[in-house]
Amino acid sequence: MARYAYVNGRYVDHREARVHVEDRGYQLSDGVYEVVGVRDGKLIDEALHLDRLGRSLGELRITWPVSRPTLGFIIRELMRRNRLRDGLVYMQVTRGVARRDHAFPTRPVKPALVLTTKNGKRAEADPGPGVAVKSQPDIRWQRCDIKTVALLPNVLAKQAARENGAFEAWMVDKHGNVTEGASTNAWIVTKAGELVTRATDQAILAGITRHTLKALATDLQLKLVERPFSLTEAKAAKEAFITSATSFVTPVTKIDGQPVGDGKVGSTARRLREEYVRFAAAGEAIT
Ligand code: PDD
Repeated sequence: MARYAYVNGRYVDHREARVHVEDRGYQLSDGVYEVVGVRDGKLIDEALHLDRLGRSLGELRITWPVSRPTLGFIIRELMRRNRLRDGLVYMQVTRGVARRDHAFPTRPVKPALVLTTKNGKRAEADPGPGVAVKSQPDIRWQRCDIKTVALLPNVLAKQAARENGAFEAWMVDKHGNVTEGASTNAWIVTKAGELVTRATDQAILAGITRHTLKALATDLQLKLVERPFSLTEAKAAKEAFITSATSFVTPVTKIDGQPVGDGKVGSTARRLREEYVRFAAAGEAIT
């Protein structure tokens, strides 16, 4: 079966999909992206992802490449062509193609729009054995709230984690606090039973999974606190986990080689994953 990509108005064979060498995303990382999870053929939190895309575009003063309803149509058409049941939809908007200059092009340029899909394993309620994380200094810029394609610090942090046998990197700011993962948000459950995740500001991406999980945790009457937590506190926590469109809720059982709690998947992370998978399967919308 041919796999398609969408590139600037056309559905093309994924192997042949190309952008121009002068695309500002390619040359200057002048672009933004979104990743929307798909389970059982249903998009998870599509509206919130498109809201965030609009915000990222606005922050960089890039205009929508197509209208929002049209983007919704393209997403569905690509999913249909690629028979996507479980996995993700990737979409990227760059400022477009222009002769290289750091400043924005002075003549109007059409933003470039690319979409791809990726098949994945169907996310199950059972979290499996959990993952290890490795701490890394957070060397990123001061607008991590914008979901830009400028991901080099995240790439390097993730690679360092992988080379140390860990699945994810937890980035640590100059105060010793965990900001977030290289491509996930970070959470802990303290010994007192509080669910803790850093509040959203310009130091982290406001994860859509994080947003939805907050609502699910509140429904479960868990005590949720949004505040910074240090790496030391995380290592002494009862549980830890990560969230993202692709990892859903994934328990963290080791930080820098040390077991978290008893080193097994904790009951809170297990419960929250179950709830999130139920939510994703239902295709509900929490706003
Ligand atoms: N990453 N923090 C960062 C730095 C991220 O890149 C992501 C998402 C998240 C979680 O956001 P959400 O819950 O909306 O997926 C947090 C995507 C999945 C990626 O880059 O592939």
